[in-house]
Amino acid sequence: MAQLIVAMDLPSTDKALSMSSVLAGSVKWLKIGLELFILGGPVLVDKLKGMGYNIFLDLKFYDIPNTVERAVKAAASIEADMLTLHCQGGRKMCEGAKSAIANMQKKPLLFGVTVLTSFAAGEMPGINEEPRTFATSLAGNAHNWGLNGVVCSGQEVAGIKASYPDLLALCPGIRPAGQASNDQSRVVTPGQAVSSGADFIVVGRPITNNPNPARAASEILCEMEKAKNKIQ
Ligand code: C5P
Repeated sequence: MAQLIVAMDLPSTDKALSMSSVLAGSVKWLKIGLELFILGGPVLVDKLKGMGYNIFLDLKFYDIPNTVERAVKAAASIEADMLTLHCQGGRKMCEGAKSAIANMQKKPLLFGVTVLTSFAAGEMPGINEEPRTFATSLAGNAHNWGLNGVVCSGQEVAGIKASYPDLLALCPGIRPAGQASNDQSRVVTPGQAVSSGADFIVVGRPITNNPNPARAASEILCEMEKAKNKIQ
């Protein structure tokens, strides 16, 4: 069954802690991205893990192999459960990240970012391929380089899972029907993502900006469950 990850794009650790209390029980995964990790760092990761959450540390590493290997090791040492690096960082960076944690007891799942869900066709600098074609080819690289999964849009996930069934797929760019897409371009609904084969969906603003975040999350979970039941 696909799992829901709530993106905690929030401007303070206090706000993150109160949001995590509101969501406790129904939601099992929280995503800490750039803003919140800058503000709260490993102490916040520790607090949220203490509340029983799994942590997706979404810092999208993209640097020379040595720097990324050290960052991945550091993320593993604070017990992040999942983290991201850019597939476009290439083979040495991605394979190096995997080897860096090979001997560690707690290994985070490594997800390669393919094409950001905010890009529409023609918007990626220097890339002439359609997002779907490019994302699928990067997913092939991620698979060959031994990453656990890829981040892709719900519009690409079915093709990626058909070619690489053992690669986990995590989809941001999720919007319940009728909601504003904000800065996202390649969006799908929670139900469409699950029907297309997503293992994880990441949802931020539709939950965190809702006056009743717990209800928004449970409606999304309900839609995911319905989609799963239709597949079976
Ligand atoms: O608020 P919203 O649901 O658009 O948030 C999506 C989250 O997923 C953001 O935190 C963003 O950084 C992240 N993300 C994304 N597209 C990717 C990778 C991560 O939107 N390809």
